[in-house]
Amino acid sequence: MCGIFAYTGKGKKDAGKVLLDGLLSLEYRGYDSAGIFTPESGAVKTPGAVKELRKKVSKDFSGKSGIAHLRWATHGEPTAKNAHPHSDCGGELWLVHNGIIENFKELKEKLAKLGHTFRSDSDTEVLAHLVEEYLGKTRDFEKAALKALNDVRGTYGIALQYKGEPDKLIAARMGSPIVIGLGNGEHFIASDPSPILPHTKKVVFLEDGEVAVLTPQKHVIRKLDSSQVRRNATEIEWSAEQAQKGGYEHFMLKEIMEGPEVIENTLRGRLLPSKGDVKLGGLESVAKKLAKIERIIIVACGTAYYAGLVGEYMLEEHAGIPVEVELGSEFRYRHPVLNERTAVLAISQSGETLDTLEAVREGKRRGALTLGIVNTVGSTIARETDAGVYNHAGPEIGVASTKAFVSQLTALALLTIFLGRQRGMSPKEGKRIARELAALPKKLQAILDRHGDIEKLAKQYGFARDFLYLGRRYNLPVAFEGALKLKEISYVHAEGCGAGEMKHGPIAMIDERFPTVALAPMDSMYEKMISNIHEIKARRGPVIVVATEGDKEVGKLVEDVLYVPKTIEMLEPILNVVPLQLFAYYFARAKGLNVDRPRNLAKSVTVE
Ligand code: AGP
Repeated sequence: MCGIFAYTGKGKKDAGKVLLDGLLSLEYRGYDSAGIFTPESGAVKTPGAVKELRKKVSKDFSGKSGIAHLRWATHGEPTAKNAHPHSDCGGELWLVHNGIIENFKELKEKLAKLGHTFRSDSDTEVLAHLVEEYLGKTRDFEKAALKALNDVRGTYGIALQYKGEPDKLIAARMGSPIVIGLGNGEHFIASDPSPILPHTKKVVFLEDGEVAVLTPQKHVIRKLDSSQVRRNATEIEWSAEQAQKGGYEHFMLKEIMEGPEVIENTLRGRLLPSKGDVKLGGLESVAKKLAKIERIIIVACGTAYYAGLVGEYMLEEHAGIPVEVELGSEFRYRHPVLNERTAVLAISQSGETLDTLEAVREGKRRGALTLGIVNTVGSTIARETDAGVYNHAGPEIGVASTKAFVSQLTALALLTIFLGRQRGMSPKEGKRIARELAALPKKLQAILDRHGDIEKLAKQYGFARDFLYLGRRYNLPVAFEGALKLKEISYVHAEGCGAGEMKHGPIAMIDERFPTVALAPMDSMYEKMISNIHEIKARRGPVIVVATEGDKEVGKLVEDVLYVPKTIEMLEPILNVVPLQLFAYYFARAKGLNVDRPRNLAKSVTVE
């Protein structure tokens, strides 16, 4: 997600200083490129974040109004050319944008035919030219903006400025948050309240489909049909830091709560439910090669590795491709036997994990096709793989990976349909999986709505120093991931274990002080999981079960049940992991630990 900040104040404050200072509090939202514009001093854009932008901005850069932006790339590499603000042909209209304009290609073709010339690959620039086209017809800035926005499909949060009316700013929201700051003789637009709070605590949150027209003295909110909207201001009591976390205490909790939106963003523009197929633009260039691939080796580390283990079950069962999953740190020393009919698939949130990157390089050296499922656009792994799928999950700030894991599993499900349809998966089966994928955000929200119960349970188990996490098939990697979440932020011992493996050793640890978290949804492994739970109970071990809504039986066997909605087996991990993420979060928070920055860990491990 990108960060937007805009100001108009008729000289009350210097817009250059207001905007550059404000961008600092938005850096958590995106930092691969930055830019600023004022009618008086023009535009300055650069790769990198605010520090780099300050270096490029001249000493006398100033203005009475302006717009600024920090980018988290979704289309186009993080370069100065693709950085925001973007302008129209004549450099009269300037725009910053957060979101994805889905129909930008068709709009761009139409505008090019009308003589518009484009400077960047960005979908955002198309909107600036669209406003320009309408401004030429209506000679009215507000009308031109409304008409242009009515042509757009996709998501946007924007701030728009026209040199012909320098005091006026136009903001609009569709799917990406926009908040208006109401100052005394000055107004602000931002992606969240954090950059506004040093100036005013009075804000108005725009709703989807709303447009705000701001001058230093006035603000008017309209719907896209230009009907006026009356909205009372809100007094924000948050600190700037709390505003960055959306009012949550930690980034980790905010990112867990973003799960439904993350699944929607990962799926956006990619599901073709009517055909039971998917569109993965990042794989189009290698689609023919992929049809001939006979084996996939997934390489990753940590949470991404556990996502890969889920992907192995998905791809083998539903796409009929042999899959191995390797730790990045092991693969590169294993002397693997690869050839051009092998694909090495790297999964990485940061795209910079050295062990995974070196595994990709080893795959290349040995002639394999290299692919990536990466969240950070333009990262090293994204650039060095032959093709890939971006997560579009937005920056993940908490060291413990949560929303990225949910997005990685969603992307693996899309890849399964993509490869499965190349290998005989029926349109009917593709439609079934696509339908269930589309239903996940609502189901995930139902779990999140019960976060209070999970908080209580985590406190109840605060006594424990050891946990066993059990699962089978698709839920075995979830057991590993649940254990990793708990140990990496609360520092207690937790291990994931195949439920069938318990009798080969781990059950010796079980007693009344050693709780077990068992993943026992009503699926093909249910009966076996129930007998494993009996084995634990026979040794007086406390058990928390993740079970399917409506399962009354399991509740009679164990102390505590965390219910999740039913879905198809291959998608269960996307739902089942979330109660475990929340359990780990509340368990560590109850101990007063630094949940976002746990000891000894880095967000991106760029060393061996
Ligand atoms: C997971 O919570 C950890 N932060 C860590 O295991 C992480 O998943 C691993 O380092 C891989 O990072 P990547 O996805 O950025 O490659």
